[in-house]
Amino acid sequence: MILAIESSCDDSSISITDIKTKKLVYHKKISQELEHSVYGGVVPELASRLHAEALPKILQECKSYFSELKAIAVTTAPGLNVTLVEGVTMAKALCLSLNIPLIAVNHLKGHIYSLFIEKETSFPMTVLLVSGGHTQVIEVTRLEDMKMVATTMDDSFGESFDKVSKMMDLGYPGGPIIEKLAKEGNEDRYPMPLPLSQSPLIAFSYSGLKNAVRLVSLEAEEADYPDIAASFQKAAVGHLTQKLKKYFKTNPPKHFSIVGGASANLYLREKIEILLKPYAAKLSLAELKYCSDNAAMIGRVAIEMFEKDMFTSLDEVKTEPRTSL
Ligand code: KG4
Ligand code: ZN
Repeated sequence: MILAIESSCDDSSISITDIKTKKLVYHKKISQELEHSVYGGVVPELASRLHAEALPKILQECKSYFSELKAIAVTTAPGLNVTLVEGVTMAKALCLSLNIPLIAVNHLKGHIYSLFIEKETSFPMTVLLVSGGHTQVIEVTRLEDMKMVATTMDDSFGESFDKVSKMMDLGYPGGPIIEKLAKEGNEDRYPMPLPLSQSPLIAFSYSGLKNAVRLVSLEAEEADYPDIAASFQKAAVGHLTQKLKKYFKTNPPKHFSIVGGASANLYLREKIEILLKPYAAKLSLAELKYCSDNAAMIGRVAIEMFEKDMFTSLDEVKTEPRTSL
């Protein structure tokens, strides 16, 4: 079995995965959303302190598995440095005391492997990764061959939902709040320009859209918020689908997937399904409970890395907050 730790942002999570069956044996996550909600976003130092409290509590519940553990996996990149360090410190201590190796896992690969938790799927695939820190299109051939082919020039998709929610004082994380509010709204009431629509670039940009919402909300009243949320979501998703459509012209998809916290957005899932129809491409999605940050996905990558002896020595392991894939 492998014990995996995730602490890259505001979720403290530990999982235990069986190496042979690749099945999840234990999984727990303590989210800090409530604590950060009052600030309208994640406060790194507060997040770090909350991880220091939550991780040992969860670990207590895993003690009965210790004798069966063959490795400890931990997210080392990307994320907030002060929170990554909490997980890495615990992972190193466990490796030393149990005398087992460490597997350093990239969080983005974790999101991609969320597709394999309690589900069967396979590579190659084109992945749309939408989270609080990333908006990327990734061509995945196998674990060691993942190429980012498009990314955001500024804010990420999930971040733009968080900022729009904050603007209207609706709370954090903004994604689920805005998606819910948008269901009651008229998405055509406030037409918003799609970012980079005249540009041939396959790239994303969300800062302009955020400003468009700011201008609209200046004049708006609370009764208008559902319409603002719906109009914003239409443009945010429309931007993704417009750029993907352009990308598909030269790279027609056969197998597509959406991963990351914002992949839980059902409006986005529906629009991507429509986009894929002409290509008859297969769409893979993670279980909703594994879309946002969790240690189960870190453990799932770690199983593949364990089989390939991809260990990191305790002297060399380091956090890499800014590393991408
Ligand atoms: O993957 P994740 O849990 O953490 C990061 O690695 O960033 O993603 C969290 C992000 C937040 O920005 C959150 O607002 C967004 O995903 N999110 C959503 C939805 N659910 C979560 N964005 C849009 N619609 C949603 N339903
Ligand atoms: Zn994430």
